[in-house]
Amino acid sequence: MKILWVLFALFSFRADCARILCVFQMPAVSHQASLQPISRELSLRGHEVIAVTPRPIKDPSLVNLTEIDTSYIYEIIHKHGFEFFMSKELTVQSKIAKIFAMYEEFAEAIFSNEHFRRIYTDPNQKFDLIIAQIYISPTMFALSHKLNSPIIGVSSMGGWTGTHVAIGNHNPPSIYSEMFLHYNGELTFYERIKSTLYYVWSRWYIYWVAMPRCDAIARKYLGPDLPYLADIERNVSALFLNINPILYTVRPMVPTVVPLGFMHVRPAKPLPQDIQDEIESAKNGVVYFSLGSNVKSVNIPQRVRDLLMNTFAELPYKIIWKFEGEELPGKPENVVIRKWLPQQDILAHPNVKVFVTQCGLQSTEEAIDREKPMVAIPFIADQEMDAKRLVEQGVAVWIDYETTNKEEIKNSIIEVAENPIYRQNIKRLRFLLQDQPMTGLERAVWWSEYVIRHRGTKHLRSPTVDIEWHKYLLLDIIAAMLGFVVILVFVIAKLIRMITRSCSLQRNVKFKNR
Ligand SMILES: *[C@@H]1O[C@H](CO)[C@@H](O)[C@H](O)[C@H]1NC(C)=O
Ligand SMILES: *[C@@H]1O[C@H](CO)[C@@H](O)[C@H](O)[C@H]1NC(C)=O
Repeated sequence: MKILWVLFALFSFRADCARILCVFQMPAVSHQASLQPISRELSLRGHEVIAVTPRPIKDPSLVNLTEIDTSYIYEIIHKHGFEFFMSKELTVQSKIAKIFAMYEEFAEAIFSNEHFRRIYTDPNQKFDLIIAQIYISPTMFALSHKLNSPIIGVSSMGGWTGTHVAIGNHNPPSIYSEMFLHYNGELTFYERIKSTLYYVWSRWYIYWVAMPRCDAIARKYLGPDLPYLADIERNVSALFLNINPILYTVRPMVPTVVPLGFMHVRPAKPLPQDIQDEIESAKNGVVYFSLGSNVKSVNIPQRVRDLLMNTFAELPYKIIWKFEGEELPGKPENVVIRKWLPQQDILAHPNVKVFVTQCGLQSTEEAIDREKPMVAIPFIADQEMDAKRLVEQGVAVWIDYETTNKEEIKNSIIEVAENPIYRQNIKRLRFLLQDQPMTGLERAVWWSEYVIRHRGTKHLRSPTVDIEWHKYLLLDIIAAMLGFVVILVFVIAKLIRMITRSCSLQRNVKFKNR
């Protein structure tokens, strides 16, 4: 009887107290901000969570969360700089190659971490679930084979072509722009050409270049007897993406793709006294200006910075600017600078009228949640696409930092601040986006526990994952049909020849008989 109970305990995979390993690689505050809540929430639900992260929460009250600090990998991203992301001259292909190269360095630096190494080399370490960030490289997915645990991929943004293909999402380049291309809505002929070429290139690049290199790194640290990384990636149990069908084009997705959203947004907290005084003493309202944690106001071209400063001087509002430098020479009277600001809480204040933003996903979500219309100055990656969508929704005005001038910036800010249509639109947009049965975080927790309960999602695997490409494109069917038509034409031609010949033979015979 006792043995039966032990067996029962072993084989009833219960999700109420599981062991979970989270590996979040990307050293960027904005990425980590939407991933942190997952490890935190899972630990609060009584699971034992180990999180490898460059931005640990370091909250001693989270007794079930152990964090392995990899903040030293920020150096890698500083070494590469963010400028290449911002460059509009560089092709999207070279940017993808650069992100993969950077990710190889992250992976090596994380696998080399002594505390982490002790975990993944110890055969006694058992996990019920691994949650690994997938920005574009699937290297960390190899842990699922090494530690014999189901794995969930999570992105603080959407997925790129390789990720969608691996989980079986239908991804035609005729309809869907890739997240690194800035096309939106129905693609024009020219955009479809570029989208198709990019699609073919990315399938080629992941297959022949990126995947073998990611695989080599996984083997180097996890052992040479791993299956090929691409096969491991196709066994991913679920994919958490920070997308929604309202701001992004609606697309068909397999059931294991789980949309998140508003992960890091929390109820507003009271403001620091000095900031509150600044906001409340502004007679005509406040413009809040921040370019986020990746772009940073200190990194943008001097010309753009001067232009912004001169424009701000002519506005009737107070400008609260998140400026990371020590001082801002020539700072106008109505501009207040701080190195760091509690953005979510500032945006919650009713006297803040406009948010001038680079349109990073996290900032956008905060603005929508706090119902603050935007003036968007996108710089990198997905920001341009997000900006276009916000303009379409009527909640923002878009400024191209390369061609803009003082008049345009000034008029845009005044328009968004004074025209009530922007506030009405963003109220409507927030209601639409948040009218759901569960929040993003609740969905993430539910799906994590679902994967734990069922030891993966084999029963939900889509046949689109395994189908060979020539079958998917119906090439064999088309070839067979063409072959049939060719044979048919050949047979008919042969028959006609035979009939005409026998007719003429008969005529000859008749002729002779006469
Ligand atoms: C830690 O986990 C245990 C069970 O595994 C649970 O009873 C406890 O409430 C958790 N503590 C916190 C602070 O989440
Ligand atoms: C993927 O999952 C299938 C079914 O569980 C298993 O047979 C196969 O070995 C797995 N492949 C890899 C590479 O882990």
